[in-house]
Amino acid sequence: MQKIVAMAALSLLVLACQTTPSNPANRQVMDPHSHARPAQAIMTHLDLAMAVDFRAKAIIGTASITFDCHDADSIFLDSDGLIIHSITVDDKPVDWLHGEANELLGRGICIVPSEPVTGTYVADIHYASAPDATALQWLRPEQTNGKTQPFLFTQSQAILARTWIPCQDGPGVRFTYHASVKVPSGLMAVMSATNPTTIAEDGVYEFDMRQPIPSYLMALAVGDLAFQSTGPRTGVYAEPAILKKSAWEFAETEAMIQAAEALYGPYAWDQYDLLVLPASFPFGGMENPRLTFLTPTVITGDRSLVSLIAHELAHSWSGNLVTNATWNDFWLNEGFTVYFEHRIMAAVYGEDYANMLRALSHAGLVDEVNEMMVKHPEDSKLDIALEGRNPDDAMTAIAYDKGFHFLLLVEEAVGKETFDAFLTTYFQDHQFKSMTTDRFIAYLKDQLLDAATWEQIRGEEWVYGTGLPDNCPVLPPLRFEAVDLALDGFLSEGSLMPQDQWTTHEWLRFLDQLGNKGANLSQVTALDGMYHLTASSNAEIQAAWFALAIPLQYRGDGFQTVVEQFLTSVGRRKFLTPTYKAMLEAGDQDWAMTIYQAARPGYHAVATQTMDDLLGFKPAS
Ligand code: BES
Ligand code: ZN
Repeated sequence: MQKIVAMAALSLLVLACQTTPSNPANRQVMDPHSHARPAQAIMTHLDLAMAVDFRAKAIIGTASITFDCHDADSIFLDSDGLIIHSITVDDKPVDWLHGEANELLGRGICIVPSEPVTGTYVADIHYASAPDATALQWLRPEQTNGKTQPFLFTQSQAILARTWIPCQDGPGVRFTYHASVKVPSGLMAVMSATNPTTIAEDGVYEFDMRQPIPSYLMALAVGDLAFQSTGPRTGVYAEPAILKKSAWEFAETEAMIQAAEALYGPYAWDQYDLLVLPASFPFGGMENPRLTFLTPTVITGDRSLVSLIAHELAHSWSGNLVTNATWNDFWLNEGFTVYFEHRIMAAVYGEDYANMLRALSHAGLVDEVNEMMVKHPEDSKLDIALEGRNPDDAMTAIAYDKGFHFLLLVEEAVGKETFDAFLTTYFQDHQFKSMTTDRFIAYLKDQLLDAATWEQIRGEEWVYGTGLPDNCPVLPPLRFEAVDLALDGFLSEGSLMPQDQWTTHEWLRFLDQLGNKGANLSQVTALDGMYHLTASSNAEIQAAWFALAIPLQYRGDGFQTVVEQFLTSVGRRKFLTPTYKAMLEAGDQDWAMTIYQAARPGYHAVATQTMDDLLGFKPAS
């Protein structure tokens, strides 16, 4: 009977609301992207013993999961594509069921204890990952810098941890972990945990994460890695060929941590290292605790893209310490982090610098909101409804830049000092807990804003409404004023600009505004002649240049080859999307498809999912 009930529950994708108001400290919110029922049985610790098999493209091992149970007759977990060999308790098989496969959520697992459990329960899940597990990218040696060793990295956010570890895969559940990982000898393994600094001859590594974290922060990378310390608690992992350059680029990380601590309290994770990945990494950065994963495209040789480090570091508070309860609350992770990122940058590099970042954020936000209001106005709400949808859909300027501007508005209303004190207490009060939008707003109104101020800033409209309210705070763009003047001069007279002193951000402003004002082919041709943008080695500038020049049919000397090289070597989705879009806009579907077909095997699944949709590509399967 118990089994039948469990089976019926597993087939239901949307589970009943699990709020338990009687115990607010342990309050669980229904998560539309997880099968877990934490009010009944919540995962508190994970012990992983696994081997990484490059030939089989599989992670094979045992996940021993400790649960805290309350009269639990069934215990629910998430999995996606995992091959479950057996589940045992005290070395004896236990009843369990595998739910039906759902394209978005994978298959729930339901463990059925012999009798209802209260208290601690430990189950050992013997399993292997599938070769096409979405979280895993298995790279051939040619796809690395060194070209001699293979490489593996994981990307668990948002709901991909379940493709390599059976777990309660929602951001509202936290657990500590230990892992023992066996890799081919000669390779180093690193995780979002305590890490080695040298290669172990036997290929066996042990890891500990003693602070409880949500599953989306589970991370592993394996490759020919070396470590270089950059400060008392900072360092860089990279392939030997790029280690020195990487360590130079990120030498100011300790200064950023000190600035962050001065703002919002002590760094809670002891060590903060950076891992530079091969170029197919689909994101700029991923805030895996103790070890941020990074794209190599931030290594420019001039430290001009280090705000990305400030961003991932800021997540050590906003996100990793206080975590969005579900992906509907994603802006609580990213909006706060952009705000915090800019504060760190202002403290370390000056207000002027932060002001440039702010102007770029605002311009990007306005563009994206305008586009969104035509197609999906509902997605322009901070409080987004993602049930039945891929949480990736929330990775837009709304969570990041509308969230950021909302916090700027609150800051303006109460003053920086008061807002800082509020945020410090907020992080402290809620550390190692999750937060929903509604609870945050209630806390904000309780601790910081009276009813009149909430009304005056139009808080309700900002959080629960669509579009960008017209009281969005905007500053004069200081250092960009010269850029905008130069742009006018260039557009009206084709005059040269004082670009020698321009930094990456000034170029980004120029290219963005030029696109908005409508450049023509002869103008972009002249621009490339004067400033050699096609030859830029800065991926941010390259991508902005491509997005401008491709739709105008610019085909200058070597331009197409450079675009092709870029698309076949870089897998960062933020650059791929606008570049392929520009090709479609230019009516050059054939060009886009030819490159895509060649480049696709080198991209991460996160990127191919988006590009397949964009280009209408149907993978043969
Ligand atoms: N946590 C995000 C990356 C992410 C979000 C991965 C959602 C999967 C799902 C990370 O902190 C991030 O925001 N990265 C940005 C860089 C940042 C400077 C805006 C990126 O990768 O572009
Ligand atoms: Zn982020």
